[in-house]
Order: sequence, then C-alpha cells, then structure tokens
Amino acid sequence: MSDNKALAQKILQLKKKKNAAIVAHNYQIPEIQDLADFVGDSLELSKTSMTLEADLIVFCGVRFMAETAKILSPDKKVLLPVREAGCPLADTITTAELLSLKKQYPDAWVVSYVNTPASIKALTDVCCTSSNAIAVVKNVPSKEIIFVPDKNLGWWVQKNVPEKRVIIWQGSCFVHEQFNVKELAEAKKKHPDAEVLVHPECKREVIEAADQALSTAGMLKYVKQALGKEFIIGTEEGILHKLKKENPGKEFYSLGMAKTCINMKKTTLNALYDSLRLDQFEITLERDIIEKAKVSLERMVQYL
Ligand code: 13P
Ligand code: SF4
Repeated sequence: MSDNKALAQKILQLKKKKNAAIVAHNYQIPEIQDLADFVGDSLELSKTSMTLEADLIVFCGVRFMAETAKILSPDKKVLLPVREAGCPLADTITTAELLSLKKQYPDAWVVSYVNTPASIKALTDVCCTSSNAIAVVKNVPSKEIIFVPDKNLGWWVQKNVPEKRVIIWQGSCFVHEQFNVKELAEAKKKHPDAEVLVHPECKREVIEAADQALSTAGMLKYVKQALGKEFIIGTEEGILHKLKKENPGKEFYSLGMAKTCINMKKTTLNALYDSLRLDQFEITLERDIIEKAKVSLERMVQYL
C-alpha cells in the first residue's frame, strides 16, 4: 500500500473514532477532495456544515470559510488544519477602513463577499457569494451599495445592476488577476469549440471576453447540463479534478498556465491527519462577532 493510501486510511479511522466530518473546497488537492465527506464552494460548504451530525468539523479550505462555518454552527467545534491558510483577498480591507466608508456613505447598505473575515461580516448588512452577488445587490432595499472587498466582482455586479450605485472597494485576488486576455485568445485559437468559463474574480476584460462568469459551484452545474464537450476554465486549477471526475465524457483545459492558490494547497494529508489527531487549529470567535456576522449571512438567503 502506498504511503498516501495508508495515511488516508488512518485519517478515515480517526474521523470515525472522533465522530468528525471533513469538508473540502473545490480548490483543495485531489487527495483531500477524494477523502472528504463533502466538496463544494464556500457557501455550499458552510451550509452543509450546519446539517452535519458530526461533533467536529474539519474544514479543508482557507480561514474565512472555516469562520463562516463556525458563525453558522457556533455550537460545533470547527478546525482549520493549517493555521496560516488565509485568503489575501479577504484581508484587503480592515474594520477601520470599512467603518470610514460607512461614515462617508451613511445611506448605503454594505454588501460583503463571503471572502472576508468574521470582523468585517459583523459590520456588514448582507453577505454574498460569487454565485448570488447580482441577485443580492438587486434585491437589497437601498439604491447605494458599499461592495467589499473584490473590485472585479464589484464591477461585474455594477454592470449587471445598472439601476444602483455600487461603491467598490479596490481589493483583488492575486490568483485570478493572473488570467489575461492574451492567454484567453490563445486558448480559444487552440480549442475553437470550447466554451470559456471564468470566475468573476478575474479582471474585467477577461470576464468580458469569456462566455460565462461563474462561481466554482456555478461552473460545475453549468458543465453538467451543457451540450458542449470542451471547456476552457479560468479559475484556480483545483476545480479541474472535480470537473473531470464528474464529467468523464468532456474535456477541460486551463486558461493559459494553471494558476494555483498557495493557501489552498497548504492542506496536505499530513496536515489533515495532525489536525484530527491533535484537534488543531480550532476556530474561536467572540460571541458578539458571531451574532452580528450571522445576521449578515442569514440575510443573504433572505435577499435572493
Ligand atoms: P467560490 O465561492 O466560487 O467557491 O470561490 C471562493 C474563492 O475563494 C474563489 O477564489
Ligand atoms: Fe482567496 Fe484568491 Fe485563494 Fe480564493 S483563490 S482563496 S480569493 S486568494
């Protein structure tokens, strides 16, 4: 038996013994995805965590995702296997900066992408994900919106909701900013029959040149029902594992060179094993933050 297989078996045994559940984001390494009880996008994972009977949730992803699971299931123990697995995009805005924006635009509703720390969610009126951002902004009861932290998703939202004024924070994701129109044109030339699917964290010119802008879960859904057989994918390369696994008759190509989110790749089988063995690293949040942040997440469902 290979070392990885033996380690995976040890993880599954320990998981059973501790009545734990393992959830993993679509960008995790294939070995983690294959072992997880559930693989999905950031919102699906948090929603699923709420319904799990387990005493312990091991969240293979980045910190804001594990925090969201804790906010929605405060009585459960949530572990993030790698303490340093953060999301640089989530950290592009501080609470002081958001408070100052709120002061500047007192009538605006704050819509925050889920890629934000719990402290930002606690100052937010309503959260959104990349799959529901347009619907949320359309439906909130204000004409003016402060949208944080991703400027590309903010631009995409403003384009699709022209009747509202969207004040956009200028944060971005270093992984998705690497996709460019030159690579897109080359990929299309090489695969003329392929549809181009990109994440709305990509630069605006890349979104405009693509056929669809979709969240990771949106891509998986789209591909399943699409009549086409070839797809060029503009998001973190980890998604290709699930796309290929779920669609054996279809072909997938990375848009240009494969782009990797190093934080997502920090969760190895060894890190997951240590997390389960040593109960590390537990997500702890202040009650007050949990209660306020929970309101913004629950409203998201209300405004869809
Ligand atoms: P999804 O919500 O589409 O899973 O995306 C999260 C993310 O971090 C994209 O970079
Ligand atoms: Fe954050 Fe970008 Fe990584 Fe997503 S891909 S977790 S937005 S750094």
